[in-house]
Amino acid sequence: MKTPVEGFSKLSKAEKIDWIAQNCTEDPKTSKQLLERYWNTDPQVQKLHDEFIENTLSNYYLPFAVAPNFLIDGEIYAIPMAIEESSVVAAASKAAKFWLDRGGFKTEILGTEKVGQVHFIYKGDPKKLASFFETLKPELLQSVSTITQNMEKRGGGINHIELRDLSDKIEGYHQLHCTFETLDAMGANFINSCLEQFAQTLKEKAKLHTDFSEEEKNIEVVMSILSNYVPHCVVKAEVSCPIAQLETKDMPAEEFAQKFLRAVNIAKVEPYRAVTHNKGIMNGIDAVVLATGNDFRAVEAGGHAYAAKEGRYSSLTHAKIEDGVFKFWIEVPLALGTVGGLTTLHPLVKLALEILQKPSAKELMRIVAVAGLAQNFAAVRSLVTTGIQKGHMKMHLLNMLNQMGASENEKKQLVEYFKNHTVTNASVKEALEKIQSQR
Ligand code: MEV
Repeated sequence: MKTPVEGFSKLSKAEKIDWIAQNCTEDPKTSKQLLERYWNTDPQVQKLHDEFIENTLSNYYLPFAVAPNFLIDGEIYAIPMAIEESSVVAAASKAAKFWLDRGGFKTEILGTEKVGQVHFIYKGDPKKLASFFETLKPELLQSVSTITQNMEKRGGGINHIELRDLSDKIEGYHQLHCTFETLDAMGANFINSCLEQFAQTLKEKAKLHTDFSEEEKNIEVVMSILSNYVPHCVVKAEVSCPIAQLETKDMPAEEFAQKFLRAVNIAKVEPYRAVTHNKGIMNGIDAVVLATGNDFRAVEAGGHAYAAKEGRYSSLTHAKIEDGVFKFWIEVPLALGTVGGLTTLHPLVKLALEILQKPSAKELMRIVAVAGLAQNFAAVRSLVTTGIQKGHMKMHLLNMLNQMGASENEKKQLVEYFKNHTVTNASVKEALEKIQSQR
């Protein structure tokens, strides 16, 4: 049984590594070497990473790739992706190529509104609170003027503050429900700073409000925090083409279009399928969000809530066939930033944004939505034609061969061999053993 460690965060990095290696690993020397092997050779870069979070021991690598040939609103992009799953980048690239010859992706920003709330308890006359709130509103705005100054200069700031009475749900529960425009910033710090100041002003001013009874003056702030549910910070991306252009070697065009449509409709009505369908979308979205230094947990949480906005979890993508034209689109909330946070700190994030031609937050929303749509197109296309495993296992082949300790030459031979053979764990093992026995 391990004993708790006192003051771990105060230890030096070397001491932390020693402690972990000694106390939590079987072979401390090797564990230590492994952690050190993943350090950046440039001490400055390593220091940067060390300081991103607390208790950093090493770096955790993910492959950083690009999916080229995305035609988005008339511009060609190579989209950076950070992801471990073998088939994702290949699938994105394939979908990009497919739509490159069919007009590309078209996008539209449907809104950029962010949300934050001050949750508080007020037990008293609702009318008095409502009239207090009217006088309070300008004071709230005034109280955050030093925080909002720069954002306002650039055209952003606070859009709206609303008093919401939710006391039918929890006794005395009310909110200041606030909306923001944070332009190219994801805006979490800006929003949370505004909210915490609102909360303080709310409490202070309530104490001085002569109309309130002693109990009413005593507003209890529970918490002040942005919401990752952003149903009005939404982007739409779509592809369309005449059905005849969907002809592939796997299936006639009309049959493909109908099967594809049915698969999307299944995800719309059936939550078990919808979750996996949307997971495939997130394969694309998360990979770009991560590569560009954005918060993929926020995007995931907001995206799934949006997928359930009608009261049942459903597909984030939609398809229809109208007058012989196949149309496939996504509508997804994306709270992203291209300034602040990791975007100016992490060298690879900076490079990813440069590869994307230094996009604004709106442009990044368009690109990320397209990555999600492309990924979903590729997945559903495989599912309704060849099945997913064929492509997936081909991409996984190198992982399997690496795991089996194949040499570079053996890998080369076997990649060639499996172009025409089915990849399974057993078939790969057998083929590798055969080559090795012939040596
Ligand atoms: C695998 O990561 C993603 C898929 O399961 C998505 C889907 O089923 O649509 C292939």
